Amino acid sequence: MRAPAPDPRRTVFWHRKGGTGKTTLAIAYALRLAMDGQRVLLLDTDPQGTATAWGERFAARWGLVVRGASGATIWRSLAGRMPGFDHLVLDCPPTITSATMDTLIGADRLIIPVRPALPDLWALEDVAQILADLRVGAAVPRTRVVFNQHRGEDLRPLIAAVVGLGLQVLPTPIAAEQAWTALFSGGVPPIAIADLFDEAS
Ligand SMILES: Nc1ncnc2c1ncn2[C@@H]1O[C@H](COP(=O)(O)OP(=O)(O)OP(=O)(O)O)[C@@H](O)[C@H]1O
Ligand SMILES: [Mg+2]
Repeated sequence: MRAPAPDPRRTVFWHRKGGTGKTTLAIAYALRLAMDGQRVLLLDTDPQGTATAWGERFAARWGLVVRGASGATIWRSLAGRMPGFDHLVLDCPPTITSATMDTLIGADRLIIPVRPALPDLWALEDVAQILADLRVGAAVPRTRVVFNQHRGEDLRPLIAAVVGLGLQVLPTPIAAEQAWTALFSGGVPPIAIADLFDEAS
């Protein structure tokens, strides 16, 4: 008898601040995995629907499956649809709802993109508190903050602020580059982004 496939790896991109790069990096990560031959389901839980719209235009050529998903109990509602995938990649809206909590509790990894800007870091205070609260009662995902849209700023004080909140930072910041915007016109990610996030594994 054939052994059941292992559960797919669940990677969630979320921050409670808007515009930090969640959708861009979720698409890029899912795309890079698919380009490497992995079976990937990209789940768009954001009512803005950007990842879905991207998927309608560009996903098929890479064998990447993109679906909209919403509501609490997202993992349970997906249970029957996950077999066969190696990776589930979730793009989340910049909100904190019961669906956010459910998503975080069921994830293996949480990637939090931040720009090198104080408001993005201020918003991390709530995120750190939520994760601390979740940690009391449930397993929380392995969490990493990634600096995105880096334009050469000195990240050291910003990294210290993140670490001061009890969060860990991925060692390689992501530069602000036109190539990331070009994803939305069918481009591919400019760096080995899968490896970058796998530093978080
Ligand atoms: N590394 C980067 N270099 C250049 N532009 C970037 C980079 N990352 C993201 N962007 C651009 O920043 C904008 C916001 O990115 P994105 O939509 O991914 O953010 P978001 O966190 O998903 O936003 P929202 O909170 O609204 O869902 C987009 O125009 C995107 O192309
Ligand atoms: Mg988004």
